[in-house]
Amino acid sequence: MRTVRAVAELRAALAPARRERVAIGLVPTMGALHEGHLALIRRAREQCDLVVVSVFVNPAQFNERSDLERYPRRESDDAALAAAAGAELLFAPPVEEVYPAGFATAVEVIGITDRLEGATRGSGHFRGVTTVVTKLLCMAMPDIAYFGQKDAQQTVVVRRLVQDLNLPVRIEVCPTVREADGLAMSSRNALLDPDQRSRARSLFDALEAARGLAARGERSSEALVDAALQTLGSFGVDPDYVALVDPETLEPLEQLAGRALLAIAARIGDVRLIDNTILEPTPASTSSQKALQGEAIATCNA
Ligand code: PAF
Repeated sequence: MRTVRAVAELRAALAPARRERVAIGLVPTMGALHEGHLALIRRAREQCDLVVVSVFVNPAQFNERSDLERYPRRESDDAALAAAAGAELLFAPPVEEVYPAGFATAVEVIGITDRLEGATRGSGHFRGVTTVVTKLLCMAMPDIAYFGQKDAQQTVVVRRLVQDLNLPVRIEVCPTVREADGLAMSSRNALLDPDQRSRARSLFDALEAARGLAARGERSSEALVDAALQTLGSFGVDPDYVALVDPETLEPLEQLAGRALLAIAARIGDVRLIDNTILEPTPASTSSQKALQGEAIATCNA
């Protein structure tokens, strides 16, 4: 596998594939690749003829300098892992290649970026993400770009961006890959000490507590969020947010009436983690509601 650092080199490396009109897949990452990224690369390998992985720790999306400074960087391991998972090309540009002197443009998605992560990390976070994702898409011009469901809001924002700017790329979202205890794979997990690591499972447990309650027919957002908060509390974790929102608009929901996104962000020590799950009203409770409605109708008709 080849590593390229300049946009011109990337374009030259992709030119033959583009001439032959074969499908190019892009997996944008910030490196420190884990099984979650490798699942994206494998999916790209299945669907595309040529797979590019970008590794760029994007300073523009970090709202805390210390987070940027200690973000794990392991480019040579990343290259080996990406190659083993089926990538042909690693694009690892230096900061000056992405943000040269005089760089003065930002791409911003409005509204959906104010909620959840945007509300906690500030508007600059998603402006940094959308600017760099637009740049990476323009640099590589892939047919398909791959993102993980763990960053649920990011996937909603990127889809919006691609639709609004008519970018000729398909966005594929792949399921979250988890450790054996449920912790969502994340490059930041490497920063957890053993005690923090054992408490980090609280995010998944909290999602599962809410899922269990929903499966027993609970519809109230407050009750579902409360179940998640109690679980987090039992691990001594005070979250940045736990929210039940519409999975497309990210507007808060009062009731679980259809597909809903339950999203959590929490600091375990000084490591900030996010996770989410999709909740749906259970068929059992849906059918028992229908049965109740049917009963009411039957009573009225009697
Ligand atoms: O999800 C990430 O790793 C980053 O936000 C992305 C999409 C690579 C942009 O820097």
